[in-house]
Amino acid sequence: MNETKNPVKKPWSGRFQEATNRLLEEFSASIQYDRRLYRQDIAGSKAHARMLARQGIISNRDADAIVKGLTEIEEEIRSGDFVWKPGLEDIHMNIEQALVERIGEAGKRLHTGRSRNDQVATDVRLYLREEIDRLDSFLLGLQQALLSQARAHQDLVLPGYTHLQRAQPVLWPHHMLAYFEMFKRDRERLRGCRKRTNVCPLGSAALAGTGFPIDRMYVARELGFSGITANSIDAVSDRDFIIEFLAAAGIIMAHLSRLSEELILWASSEFHFVDLPDSLCTGSSIMPQKKNPDAAELVRGKAGRVYGHLFGLLTTIKGLPLAYNRDLQEDKEALFDSIDTVCASVEIMSVLVANLAPREGYISKCVTQGFLTATDLADYLVGKGVPFREAHSVVGKVVFHCLSQGKELTDLGLDDLRAFSPLINEDIFEVLSAEGSVKARRCPGGTAPERVAEALARAEEEVVTVHIPPGGRRRLQQKVV
Ligand code: ARG
Repeated sequence: MNETKNPVKKPWSGRFQEATNRLLEEFSASIQYDRRLYRQDIAGSKAHARMLARQGIISNRDADAIVKGLTEIEEEIRSGDFVWKPGLEDIHMNIEQALVERIGEAGKRLHTGRSRNDQVATDVRLYLREEIDRLDSFLLGLQQALLSQARAHQDLVLPGYTHLQRAQPVLWPHHMLAYFEMFKRDRERLRGCRKRTNVCPLGSAALAGTGFPIDRMYVARELGFSGITANSIDAVSDRDFIIEFLAAAGIIMAHLSRLSEELILWASSEFHFVDLPDSLCTGSSIMPQKKNPDAAELVRGKAGRVYGHLFGLLTTIKGLPLAYNRDLQEDKEALFDSIDTVCASVEIMSVLVANLAPREGYISKCVTQGFLTATDLADYLVGKGVPFREAHSVVGKVVFHCLSQGKELTDLGLDDLRAFSPLINEDIFEVLSAEGSVKARRCPGGTAPERVAEALARAEEEVVTVHIPPGGRRRLQQKVV
């Protein structure tokens, strides 16, 4: 980072007799990470300056100079030429000071009717709003990858599990769509969080508001906010929107981690269900045969990091009296790292899912083993009038018999089966097949091919992408159904 360690005069130094201790200077500086907010900080300052001029609080000339100066500073930061001063603590004072150096007195008028407390809250809200949209488009990409994986192997039947024990046959696209649903809920949660993030705190000043005749609605509109915060004390101390985001990000990581875990299991020799792309695996420095699922493992591992940030920030705010306290500065690293982590994880998972290759032949063999259709045999007997509990018990005996003989259900002939119940007829063999089993599960939400085809079509319809430009920006949006 391009920075100078030279001592700087603080904008607030008027009432101080001593210079800031070097330790505190280093301890309290946030510029190393909050410079990430420079675009938002400058946008907020420009809107504020224009508003001050419209309201006759500063002159149009001063506002023009401020806006021009800020545009130049933004360009300087973007090009990497801006010299950061850790002695000026944070992004707000770095930019304001640079403005004063550049345009003189007009720059000193910018902070009229404003505090860093409402300024930082505004910056972070603007930033998070944008990042939520970016994350949402990554999640959409992941949903699309799941759908393409579902379509690519639409008829594949695989063993479904409960307790990690083979349970009942399910369709591959049904399994993919289970994850689709999770990410759909995640996106809904983000939409809710975005709504509460998208309100403008600027004008709350330090905590009590300001006596200048400001126009908060104008600033909010300029910055694309949907409205203004209602209470100045709350506005400068509220970090709920960040916590809410971290919780939503935590749930996304939980979903990604479950998917990772499943892929890791499926890629093992023990399961042997899928082949992961070489490009997302690594080898071992000692064992030449190894192909390790590192991408999935890292996603699983990174989940803990995001949960940690959520708990960290909850703990930070739990004992804080109103209104702003410097503790709140601790929100940023948690937020930034969580955003980086969750976006990178969703992105890599999309590639992993899109390039997954199920071993169809092997999987199809697996569905004939492990008594996956035992429930179907019980249901068959129920169809012949046997109470379910009794049918369950009869089939339990059939399974025990098979286990003691080293046989599968499908190894039994009609006579073997009829020894357990004379109600069993020739039509049982279709019932005991994996295909017959999935076909039977026609209830809404079930794994029957027609239900899954409908669900898949619905899901594809949902993620049709439309481009709307809010404030000139293109963004992906889910079609609302
Ligand atoms: N860097 C500070 C933060 O992130 C900005 C607000 C500082 N306000 C203050 N009164 N010291 O929270």
